[in-house]
Amino acid sequence: MLQPAEPENLLSASLQRICADIDRMLDAVLAPPGDARDRLFHAMRHAAIGGGKRLRPLLVHASADLFGVPRFQALRAGLAVECIHVHSLIHDDLPCMDDDDLRRGKPTVHKAFDEATAVLAGDALHALAFEILGDPLTHPEDAVRCELIRDLAVAAGGAGMAGGQMLDLLPGEVGDVNGVIRLQRLKTGALIGWSVEAGAALANARPSDRMSLRGYGQCLGLAFQIADDLLDANGSEAKAGKRLRKDAEAGKASFVSLLGPDRARAQAHMLVDQAADHLRPFGRDGSLLQAIAEFAVVRDH
Ligand code: IPE
Ligand code: IPE
Ligand code: MG
Ligand code: MG
Ligand code: MG
Repeated sequence: MLQPAEPENLLSASLQRICADIDRMLDAVLAPPGDARDRLFHAMRHAAIGGGKRLRPLLVHASADLFGVPRFQALRAGLAVECIHVHSLIHDDLPCMDDDDLRRGKPTVHKAFDEATAVLAGDALHALAFEILGDPLTHPEDAVRCELIRDLAVAAGGAGMAGGQMLDLLPGEVGDVNGVIRLQRLKTGALIGWSVEAGAALANARPSDRMSLRGYGQCLGLAFQIADDLLDANGSEAKAGKRLRKDAEAGKASFVSLLGPDRARAQAHMLVDQAADHLRPFGRDGSLLQAIAEFAVVRDH
């Protein structure tokens, strides 16, 4: 008799499947046009294909699955947020920002190509996200597509990721733990929150379910960035596939810099418990989201 998947098996099988699906879809949408723009497409492919945990697409899939949304629609929404995420990574690594030379175990785009190409590859991925969401293949209802587009624009822009990146570059502005929470909610939490809520939007889910997912996403977003900051302080570069030990040097404000690694880790675990509380209304159906939250704080990459 078929046994229900254990949360750990469920997570690794789901991660493997989403990585393969997202790579396949990126390969199709980023086919080089066969003219002088090929360099741009090769740079986008270098950044986007064959790496990364694909955590945001997995979150879209997991939340969409709660409501029986077709996998194809969830994958398209997941592909869109992954494009925004990769855009943010390309720009985050530029010399004018974090000045990094390694990403996902490969040279960063400005190292493998050049800075102008990296800026344009980020721009083009940003635009591609909205092209994907605006296509009726993503959802047949205009209102659903408009909601996804508007909310992703908010999550990626000044009220979300880009705003958080600005605060991150001005550590003096951040100050105390509340300042760090605000910074991380914008920088990382906004795109994670969109991913979690996208499944509910695709399903036209009822407000109470959306509120539960919002609560889960807020806790997860914060826990996820604490784990990233802990990785920077204590992780292995070979496993993370990016340069580490840079935040302290750059004077970045984080839970780790303010509380120290032990209290920061305890905070991350507490947030995972809170995330689990928000999933209670979904019962066993929430086990993949629960497993994702646990993975987000114990990961080594
Ligand atoms: C790294 O994100 C940047 C942050 C927002 C902390 P991920 O850890 O999700 O990076 P990939 O997609 O797996 O490379
Ligand atoms: C970047 O945060 C978050 C983004 C919006 C890209 P970090 O600068 O800490 O991400 P890593 O450590 O370079 O992946
Ligand atoms: Mg940064
Ligand atoms: Mg960085
Ligand atoms: Mg980091």
